[in-house]
Amino acid sequence: MSAQASPELPDSIPQHIAIVMDGNGRWAQSRGLPRLAGHRAGTENLRSIIEACVEFGVKVLTIYAFSTENWSRPENEVSGLMAIFDEVFNRELAELNRQGAQLRHIGRLDGIKKSLQDKVRRGIEKTKNNDRLILNVAFNYGGRDEIVHAIRTMLKEGVDPADVNEQLVSQYLYTKDVPDPDLIIRTSGEHRFSNFLIWQAAYAEWVFPETFWPDFGREELLAAIQEYGHRERRYGRVLEKG
Ligand code: FPP
Repeated sequence: MSAQASPELPDSIPQHIAIVMDGNGRWAQSRGLPRLAGHRAGTENLRSIIEACVEFGVKVLTIYAFSTENWSRPENEVSGLMAIFDEVFNRELAELNRQGAQLRHIGRLDGIKKSLQDKVRRGIEKTKNNDRLILNVAFNYGGRDEIVHAIRTMLKEGVDPADVNEQLVSQYLYTKDVPDPDLIIRTSGEHRFSNFLIWQAAYAEWVFPETFWPDFGREELLAAIQEYGHRERRYGRVLEKG
């Protein structure tokens, strides 16, 4: 289905949506299940959200899968999450190709076990010609870490301080090839950035649905896009009324 086919969509569709997929643990605990069952349910849920983004005509979807801070979770949760990533990067490639989605990664691949690094690289290679949606997976990602990485790279390359401006800094971030997010969604009722896209989010619209991530489906995504459609984006200016 093309974007025009859905009359529920507002005139302005966010080109880039970023999501903090929060509430997996609470979703599981509220059902008497282990936290990892929530992460599994959250992973399953991604498929329908990717499909809905393609349907709605969204061009970039960035998802916060694992932060540089998540390493400090209990060892069994970290290893369980790594096992889930390991399965998903194998299992979902065919589905990404079917959807026309191109896999990309932001964050540090070093620090992740070699076999998983290889799977991520293989997934990126195997989907690189897809052009309906860019699926940017923030995996071992931190916004501050990204800025530190950018500064180090600039210094190593001997960039002249006089040449440093906002455009140049953006070019040294992991997101250099995609526009800044227009809409950022954090599920589960939490209202925090949690070190996600802290540079790129400067003028993003945020929406905070109460729904836990595993229950956040097409209709909730549509509601967030509709809310975005009602926002007036001013970028610090005063808009003149006709
Ligand atoms: C936050 O919920 C969720 C995470 C830290 C992990 C999210 C990861 C996935 C859904 C898997 C995605 C997989 C791929 C390959 C992209 P939480 O555990 O903080 O929930 P809580 O706040 O209720 O405890």
